Amino acid sequence: MTVGEALLVRRSKRAYSPEPVPRDKLLKILKDAARAPSAENTQPWEIYIAEGETLKRIKAGYAECYAYSVKANPELALPTEWTEDTTRRKRGLFPDMVHDCGEAIHQFAALNQSMFNAPAVIYICMDKMLSSWSIYDIGAYAQGFMLSAAENGLGTIPSVTLVIYPEVLRKELHLPDNLKIIIGIAIGYADTTNRINDFNSSRSPIKENVRFCE
Ligand SMILES: Cc1cc2nc3c(=O)[nH]c(=O)nc-3n(C[C@H](O)[C@H](O)[C@H](O)COP(=O)(O)O)c2cc1C
Repeated sequence: MTVGEALLVRRSKRAYSPEPVPRDKLLKILKDAARAPSAENTQPWEIYIAEGETLKRIKAGYAECYAYSVKANPELALPTEWTEDTTRRKRGLFPDMVHDCGEAIHQFAALNQSMFNAPAVIYICMDKMLSSWSIYDIGAYAQGFMLSAAENGLGTIPSVTLVIYPEVLRKELHLPDNLKIIIGIAIGYADTTNRINDFNSSRSPIKENVRFCE
């Protein structure tokens, strides 16, 4: 698979089969992702992977938070406002999903709340003292991780819902205090029978975001 093909094949998958991610594949993907560029080669990503019983305990902890309507509190604060252009693009997301997924759209919230039933979730953290420069590096790492996963036949989704209850993650992953949780990525074999995975997100024409200055 070429990089170009992987860029097109990678789509966020929101339902997974219970089949575990083979450890050798996961290690290969992690090794690939670590080739991401980073400011002065600082490689700020600190990765914690939840599988098996640990992931079950995280799910149970999240279920309790949802049951008590605990307010989402990700450590990388949620945005409070968006620009006009980003708001317009955001608004297109759900109508497009309804169009592509039909009735399966009704599973959206439940799947988000159950870690998409993925067999593994990686949590990308970085030291609290680092700046937004390092978040740029983490974005590059995340994309490399997801592209390599696609090449290796695995589905992924980066999701803020995976990191909205950091106190549960801190307890179950034994995270040191100096780390801040940035984002979670669920990984596994996509459930091809679930139409939620038929969603094919659109992109604005590149002329909307790109200016050639000659
Ligand atoms: C930082 C970030 C947070 C996201 N959070 C969620 C989420 O909470 N729930 C969800 O279903 N998708 C989430 N997504 C997935 C986006 O909705 C998805 O990337 C976007 O619609 C484009 O679709 P694609 O990934 O299939 O190309 C998130 C993506 C990113 C990069």
